[in-house]
Amino acid sequence: MLIRSSMQVVNHGVGEDVVRGFRDAAAEFFAMPAEKKLPYCSSDQSKPFRLATSTTYDRGETQYWLDYLKLQCHPVSDELVQDWPAEPTSFRPRLAEFSEAVHELAQTLLRLIAEGLGLGTGFFAGDLSGGETQMNVNYYPPCPDPSLTLGLLPHCDRHLLTVLSQGDVAGLQARHIGRWLLVRPIPGALVINFGHQMEIITNGALASVEHRAVTNSDRTRMSVATLIMPKMECRIGPAPEMVDEATNPSKFREFVFSEFMEAYYTASASREDVLESFRTHEN
Ligand code: OGA
Ligand code: NI
Repeated sequence: MLIRSSMQVVNHGVGEDVVRGFRDAAAEFFAMPAEKKLPYCSSDQSKPFRLATSTTYDRGETQYWLDYLKLQCHPVSDELVQDWPAEPTSFRPRLAEFSEAVHELAQTLLRLIAEGLGLGTGFFAGDLSGGETQMNVNYYPPCPDPSLTLGLLPHCDRHLLTVLSQGDVAGLQARHIGRWLLVRPIPGALVINFGHQMEIITNGALASVEHRAVTNSDRTRMSVATLIMPKMECRIGPAPEMVDEATNPSKFREFVFSEFMEAYYTASASREDVLESFRTHEN
């Protein structure tokens, strides 16, 4: 069976106050005057905390309408917290709390997914999910003409699993049989997306869903995506339990995660271009 979907989880154990606490702090960050935010602006991907904008994108015709934070959010250590902004004052404590809670939820989901696949509950623990967890805080101001812009380009997430808080403003769309379907916000829910690594490890059983974000003309939209990553040096390939030479041969070759990250960047996130060099020849 092929499952390619976004799912939404409710009663997920990440407290409403914890979600709201960090969302409010992040909104306050974006609302600060430009001169306070300017020191964080950077296109250097190695920075553990940075602010950037889509106006620097060069992707042909489409214009993008997005400011975003990219930060490292887990494991939370005193050293890491120092990399986060000191203002607004709520930012560091609320992010630490949110990050811990989301991480716990992600580990629970990974245990349940592993169990559901017959892989043993600890399958994804360790290096497959033990990389430095990244977070995207996407901030889409109202756009006067949403027909001219996109918030985020169509993509599959490059890592293992994404836990996304999209708040109550719609904008996330998932591709389903050639059409874009709106992932309607459900109050309090978190969206779970399988990343490319989940698709590869499960030999296609849990496929990565292609998604994008659209803009709207009247409300600011903010989404918080927590990206559960393998370790950079982790070897990845279809789990032997998910492969059967006769009926379900391996669809992907083995690789080291850092190699995939490189390919993702080069292929500008396009689903088929990214996967191309990791497929085995029979497919
Ligand atoms: C992402 C993402 C969707 C959204 O950050 O990878 O897909 O709703 N975000 O902003
Ligand atoms: Ni995404």
